[in-house]
Amino acid sequence: MHDSRETFVNHAFVVGHPIRHSRSPLIHGYWLDQLGIAGSYTRQDVAPQAFPAFIAALRDKHPKFVGGNVTIPHKEAAFRLADRPDALSEELGASNTLWVEDGLIHATNTDGRGFVANLDEHAPGWERADRAVVLGAGGASRAVLQALGDRGLAEIHVVNRTVARARELADRFGARIHAHGMDALAEVMQGAGLFVNTTSLGMAGEAAPELDFSGLASGAIVTDIVYVPLKTPFLQQAEQQGFATVDGLGMLLHQAVPGFEKWFGRRPQVDAALRQRIIDDMEH
Ligand code: ATR
Repeated sequence: MHDSRETFVNHAFVVGHPIRHSRSPLIHGYWLDQLGIAGSYTRQDVAPQAFPAFIAALRDKHPKFVGGNVTIPHKEAAFRLADRPDALSEELGASNTLWVEDGLIHATNTDGRGFVANLDEHAPGWERADRAVVLGAGGASRAVLQALGDRGLAEIHVVNRTVARARELADRFGARIHAHGMDALAEVMQGAGLFVNTTSLGMAGEAAPELDFSGLASGAIVTDIVYVPLKTPFLQQAEQQGFATVDGLGMLLHQAVPGFEKWFGRRPQVDAALRQRIIDDMEH
């Protein structure tokens, strides 16, 4: 144990490839300052072939390095290489948060928790939706479907360009999930209380299809896990059609909370000033 707060500096990281656009250092840096914790959080650009060695080295660097976040393209490898992936990582086949304990690398996945915490903050009561539609069936969709199922949503429709991927997720995450191709989108949106975009459609510079949200239930919520731009084409369209929207930035902020708490021992708050700091950074 280290007994001097002043000299005890914990280091955490976000590892990915590429990594220069990651906003995680801003988030964790903000919390370290706010809570007066002597620690650091840095970007680590590690190519896929070097990732196993990076993980192995982590065990030796503890306690100086306490853990970190994992992003594209390493989330599946992080799960496979961790000594102690938790049940959620097993279920998703991917981990985004690592920490070292007793010389062993533990792993979890906080994407789904970030997703629901964002809705809880900005659209309380959202889970009363009878039916949810999730567009997309990639890694992000997996975490969203798991979290929606966990919160007990009765009926979830996953719609994807490649139907086989949607079917695979429906088979994996239970009977309440139904898989469809894009041609069924308008039909399953009828009466839905929650619409989630998990695809890259409409991300900075990409075109997004026009969607007719008018069949959604009154009071329905439309959310996007993409946060660049903050108002994605889907969110703009939904707003124009009179629906409440929740942008994806809150998911990024909330998914960071459990890791920070593990590494630095304090539970940080997602506050308005932090959100604004990320928005300012995106604008520059
Ligand atoms: P992530 O892990 O971020 O979810 P991914 O695994 O590459 O990323 O998944 C991207 C999702 O966006 C998929 O659902 C993909 O559809 P396919 O499974 O058919 O590839 C969807 N997507 C990407 N570009 C798309 C496009 N132009 N039209 C429709 N769907 C698209």
